[in-house]
Amino acid sequence: MSQDEIFTASSPGKFILLGEHSVVYGKPAVALAINRRFRCTVQKSPVDMLNGLPLDTGIHPHIGYILKKNNASGVSIQTDSELPSSSGLGSSAALSSSLSAALKNMKGSEIDRRVIADEAFNAEYEAQGRASPMDASCCTFGKGIAINCPDSKGKEVWAVSKGGNSWRMSEVAVPDMTFVVGYTGIKARTGPLVEKVRKYKEHNRFASDIVDEIGKITLDGVDAMAHGNLEELGDIMTQDHKLLSILGVSCNELNKLVKASLDYSYGAKLTGSGGGGSMIALTDEPKKVCEAILLHGGLPFIVKTGVPGVTVE
Ligand code: PMV
Repeated sequence: MSQDEIFTASSPGKFILLGEHSVVYGKPAVALAINRRFRCTVQKSPVDMLNGLPLDTGIHPHIGYILKKNNASGVSIQTDSELPSSSGLGSSAALSSSLSAALKNMKGSEIDRRVIADEAFNAEYEAQGRASPMDASCCTFGKGIAINCPDSKGKEVWAVSKGGNSWRMSEVAVPDMTFVVGYTGIKARTGPLVEKVRKYKEHNRFASDIVDEIGKITLDGVDAMAHGNLEELGDIMTQDHKLLSILGVSCNELNKLVKASLDYSYGAKLTGSGGGGSMIALTDEPKKVCEAILLHGGLPFIVKTGVPGVTVE
């Protein structure tokens, strides 16, 4: 391998259709990959570099973890993202997943998606202090991923246990649906929001019941999606948003965008960890939803789902 040889891989971002936060405790969830990707290019270098500057793994713990797992040092990494960071759209999992694939390609190692998903999951777990494998799985396997949904009928792609919880990840069929994402422009870190829910759940039986309820309605949502029942799926999304708000992970900006979208949508909810970040709306009138989101201070974009996972380019 010459010093100049470059290796590129990309992974899609994702949104969580149903089940964020409760999935951290092993409850069901569904995430769909979207047509906005994170791309990593790697090449040999005398010292570790990131986008032309010396790499500081204190600031970039995911990168530090993936480099260590792949016994990689003396690497220059160039990133190119179509995903806003800390926006609930899986940018850190897509970074870990695409970096892992690019490094494996550089070293001539096998590209095994289960290994990549496991590395990306553990990178999230270390960085956040607690995590589910939802983002890592969806950004790596692409299309639609259901976690702990025994009736979803899709092929199981991998499974993992950690910290007393177990997750089984399966492919899920994604019918033709139109989603609009509304980005609040507020960057929200996942770790503190996950910790907030943990504390609430640990000290309050009511919060624990809400986490269980999110798990239950997620299974109903998976069933509605399998039957192409968008009205029911939309209702469940909106219920999920209300439950997440009770858990304390929504905010005024998200609530405003959800409310404004509901006039033209089957349903709408925050997606990802909340506290800012993004919301999604399931709709047949994407232009009207985009206008409503813009009018209420958000940045809208229509996303395509059913896209492939990590890809060596
Ligand atoms: O905001 P994101 O993209 O990091 O999504 C976080 C989803 C959570 O369920 C809140 C945490 C997790 O690890 O599953």
